[in-house]
Amino acid sequence: MFKRLLANRGKNAGHSAGADSEQDLLAKLDLTRLPVHVAIIMDGNGRWATWRGMPRSFGHRAGVKALRRVVELCVELQIKHLTVYAFSTENWKRPLEEVNILMDLLVEYLYKEIDELCANNVKINPIGILAELPEKARTAVYAARERSGANTGMVFNVALNYGGRAELVQAIRAIVGKVSEGRLRVEDIDGEVLAAHLYTAAQPDPDLLIRPSGDYRVSNFLLWQLAYTELWLTDTMWPDFSKQELLKAFLDFQSRERRFGGLVHK
Ligand code: FPP
Repeated sequence: MFKRLLANRGKNAGHSAGADSEQDLLAKLDLTRLPVHVAIIMDGNGRWATWRGMPRSFGHRAGVKALRRVVELCVELQIKHLTVYAFSTENWKRPLEEVNILMDLLVEYLYKEIDELCANNVKINPIGILAELPEKARTAVYAARERSGANTGMVFNVALNYGGRAELVQAIRAIVGKVSEGRLRVEDIDGEVLAAHLYTAAQPDPDLLIRPSGDYRVSNFLLWQLAYTELWLTDTMWPDFSKQELLKAFLDFQSRERRFGGLVHK
């Protein structure tokens, strides 16, 4: 069962051990100005495990727990869209053993969590070149998409065999295909048309991108969609990413002035 924080909002604020407790952070948060779409690069699992003298798989397994915490809080705060980078088009370069572990964890996660996700009205929307996933993963991913397809709560985009460049290439191919069939005129192609051919079609661009693990890169994630996204970078490794950390990211987001290339945007 998903744990709830909001029920006690404000009750224990200021009385707990640290000023950074979940309740204190939650009390400071303006629930009316949360990011609509949150994107996360779940990085640092491998290093986190290696530093502990453990195999990388240990870090990935801890990364799944972090993902669970984050999904739980996003659901509770009624975040409308959450996109997580679970496996990139470049991750196939890793040793087969690690690729297999990641795929197994994905399957396990989906089968274990699907009831809870559905009970919380979450719609799972896998994005990426899904047809190239190993059969077991593909079956689990399609089943989760099918089962949660009618849900109307948070859209949970899970990026799998995903690359921002590959996404743009498939969008351009689809657009050129329509042009060559006479279904679209070249002069009608604009940003909206392109966005409508991305995996995230009909979803707003991310308001906030979170990247843990101390690396300052976009890593081929949502290249088009991140144009005006606020970035929140932290040295915390993904397996250590807590609800407190997510609340801090949201609080920091609420202090930003977003101008979208213009002047003050309120
Ligand atoms: C990056 O850490 C993380 C990944 C490539 C995979 C992320 C996957 C999970 C959190 C678990 C599986 C996902 C789901 C949806 C169940 P890294 O291995 O690159 O870490 P490093 O940079 O420290 O080596």
